[in-house]
Amino acid sequence: MCGIVGYIGNKQASPILLDALEKLEYRGYDSAGIAVIDNNKINIKKCIGKIENLRSLVANDEKNGSHIYGNVGIGHTRWATHGKPSDVNSHPHISQSGMVAVVHNGIVENYMELRTFLESKGYKFVSDTDTEIIVQLIDFYYTGDPVAAVRQAISRLSGSYALGIMFADYPWQLIAFRKGSPLIIGLSDGENYIASDIPAILEHTKKIIRLGEQELAVITSESVSVFNSFGERIHKEVQEITWNIDAAQKGGYEHFMIKEIMEQPTVIKNTVSPRISASAIDLGLKNITDKDFRRITNVVIVACGSAYHVGVVAKMLIEKYARIPARAEIASEFRYSDPMVNENTLTIVISQSGETIDTQYAMREAKSKGSKTLSIVNVVGSSIASESDDVIYTWAGTEIAVATTKAYSAQLAVSYLLAFHIAKCRGCIGEKEEQELISELERIPDDIEKLLEGKNQIQFMASKYFNAQSIFFIGRNIDHALALEGSLKLKEVSYIHSEAYAAGELKHGTISLIEDGTLVVALATYMPLFEKTVSNIKEVKARGAQVIAITSDNTSIPEDVADNVVYIPSGYKYIEPMLSIIPLQLFAYYVAANRGCDIDKPRNLAKSVTVE
Ligand code: AGP
Repeated sequence: MCGIVGYIGNKQASPILLDALEKLEYRGYDSAGIAVIDNNKINIKKCIGKIENLRSLVANDEKNGSHIYGNVGIGHTRWATHGKPSDVNSHPHISQSGMVAVVHNGIVENYMELRTFLESKGYKFVSDTDTEIIVQLIDFYYTGDPVAAVRQAISRLSGSYALGIMFADYPWQLIAFRKGSPLIIGLSDGENYIASDIPAILEHTKKIIRLGEQELAVITSESVSVFNSFGERIHKEVQEITWNIDAAQKGGYEHFMIKEIMEQPTVIKNTVSPRISASAIDLGLKNITDKDFRRITNVVIVACGSAYHVGVVAKMLIEKYARIPARAEIASEFRYSDPMVNENTLTIVISQSGETIDTQYAMREAKSKGSKTLSIVNVVGSSIASESDDVIYTWAGTEIAVATTKAYSAQLAVSYLLAFHIAKCRGCIGEKEEQELISELERIPDDIEKLLEGKNQIQFMASKYFNAQSIFFIGRNIDHALALEGSLKLKEVSYIHSEAYAAGELKHGTISLIEDGTLVVALATYMPLFEKTVSNIKEVKARGAQVIAITSDNTSIPEDVADNVVYIPSGYKYIEPMLSIIPLQLFAYYVAANRGCDIDKPRNLAKSVTVE
């Protein structure tokens, strides 16, 4: 999704802005631009396409004498919402008077009404964007006090947005504002930064301030002043980033996705170990107590995309082990469904980024109905983590590839810990089962390692099937939940059409799509339903399907049932299916690699989806 950067200091702003934008490329974008103030004049360079196009534009213009010099500037990567990707729709946008420039992440919902208002005041628009409304509105209110003009303008906007703003006649300051979409401020000696995300500024500073909801910051090279929505100056904690730039680099791998797949043994260890104390699960919760877990009568899990797929697994686990009615809901639907949630509901909110706006709004909806909210989040200090009543962090580290892998697995591990903890609080399981689960979770990293060592087998299968037109993923129970994720992963990175089906449901309609050569990836790791799944595999095989089966290494699937079999380590009572995601992730990756796709930044996708 759109990325914002800003710099103020005594260095040339444009190279810093261009480098910072490059670090935000993983968020997904279709155009980019920068604006710099030079002698009380705002100069802008922007264009459709990659940052390298913008770099060439800046370099060529420079050769022709059109410089973009100055020590204060803002930059942007755009992910189109209002208006197609084009040079003119790219950010920054500048006001008609040339006095104000704005970069924006988010959506202004009432932009049509404001556009009509501004047109009636004589403003002419050059782009199709909602952002141009913001910049003209600020300009309309500007009478020499930048903060006052920004405040008046934002009081008329509805939607969610983060803004970076500069005024031509105030070249010594930047203004940042955040409502919904995230924004951070980086602090350094004699220079300061704004950014949508930490990797953009990490090579310059490890000290950051996270802007909270409706907070506005006035940033100079020497100071940062933050104000709340009442205009009162507030104190903000400075957070020290503990990870370094290496975490945001590929470390010898061809893509971030494969690097992150390979990191999963460590990620699971880092996520599970701190939660085990004296052979028992200790989630380290501060505001949600064991009493709460005993008191609740139902659980709802809200999330989007892959995080929702984890929610589907978590629902099964909570019902199975803690015997509480649970449901997983797609966050964007939940908010508008007048959900049946009350003070006896525990709402579990799952999000890698902690910034997904649909998930955030769903969480607020649940909260407004009296539900306690417990988030499972990867990004420390993110909006969802801060707003929920309590948080369990997945210690997956920074995830750069748009398609999530390691954060998904870490969320799965936390789901097991949480389900078991709730079950224990409610007396549904005893210490013995808890300890068995703990030892299983502690075994997982080594078994993931083994699966990763066998990646050549998956690579070979990918080279066999990468030209498939359409791929089906089937499984029963937890295997079905994992099939959903396997299918999404493949679609995201390889652009092959794919669907995930409950294996027993296929015969009720979708089996009509199976013909000679159709590839079916069948998961048969959920042992209680193994035989039934094998019957479903036979049904597709009989209709000509090519089958890749994934099953446990203490079973076997005959050659006439599956053309290829991937065996995953057995000996688990509870969590074996958690391993089958590894071959599915590898398969998606290698298929995409064979097809020459832009694996880390798939078309049309964004890492953190901050619009509804
Ligand atoms: C996963 O590969 C996706 N890119 C996407 O479905 C993602 O899981 C979803 O947008 C939710 O993101 P979040 O976990 O940051 O909230």
